[in-house]
Amino acid sequence: MPFLCTYFGGQAFSSNARKPGKQYAHRFYSALPLRPPPILAEGQSNIIQLSIIALNKHLHPIFDRLIQREDRERRLLQHSKVLWLTGLSGSGKSTIAQHLERRLYNEGYFPQALDGDNIRTGINSNVDFSDEGRRENIRRIAEVSRLYLNSGIITINSFISPTKAIREMARGIIGEEDFIEIFVNAPLEVCEARDVKGLYKKARAGEIKGFTGIDAPYEPPENPALEVRTDEMSLQDSVRIIFEFIEPIIKYRRA
Ligand code: ADX
Repeated sequence: MPFLCTYFGGQAFSSNARKPGKQYAHRFYSALPLRPPPILAEGQSNIIQLSIIALNKHLHPIFDRLIQREDRERRLLQHSKVLWLTGLSGSGKSTIAQHLERRLYNEGYFPQALDGDNIRTGINSNVDFSDEGRRENIRRIAEVSRLYLNSGIITINSFISPTKAIREMARGIIGEEDFIEIFVNAPLEVCEARDVKGLYKKARAGEIKGFTGIDAPYEPPENPALEVRTDEMSLQDSVRIIFEFIEPIIKYRRA
């Protein structure tokens, strides 16, 4: 039976496809993670329940009309997650991410890698390396990752994300269940000796101020989902260990 549903500033639509009930209310609200899904009693109208959303007066999200994450995951035959690789510059994050992305793609998954050097020349070209700049950098990445997540994509992020507070912010935006923190760990001396981009040398010479590990802090994660010691194992092993860890999580399971 069709029903009328008032939402967002009094707009109304009718639908044959969507019927009032527990499941629909949950799916609708699950697109708005900050609001707990209301439990509707059998036969109770959605009209009053959904009008609560009109609290955000001048915003008109259309999550309910978008194809749902589960539909996209079914199409892509995977469960989307955000792999968050944190570690010092030169620890190997981006290299691992590139190889992991290729491996996942070759195995039939649909991944997307994002890293500091790329993002900071595009969407985040206007943020610096001050505490505030890094925070804004990570906030935007986390928001972009959340969009990818809802598109069913497996995102592989390589950002220093130097402090626990910054990573907790990212975790909060993405959601505990979908945020997989991976510590790409190599001691500062090793990263500095590698100095792939010549930036440590510049930082030591005072040409770059506030360089992570030199004169800006890096706080290692206390309880990462996974840690890879890139000074102790090969690139291939690091990629394999991460792949084997995440495969059971992203492998598509029919509902
Ligand atoms: S984050 O701290 O905001 O997470 P992000 O991962 O985006 O940093 O960018 C780190 C990359 O920017 C480094 O790998 C390095 O190439 C470059 N970079 C330039 N200046 C700095 C700096 N002051 N500290 C750290 N990395 C820097």
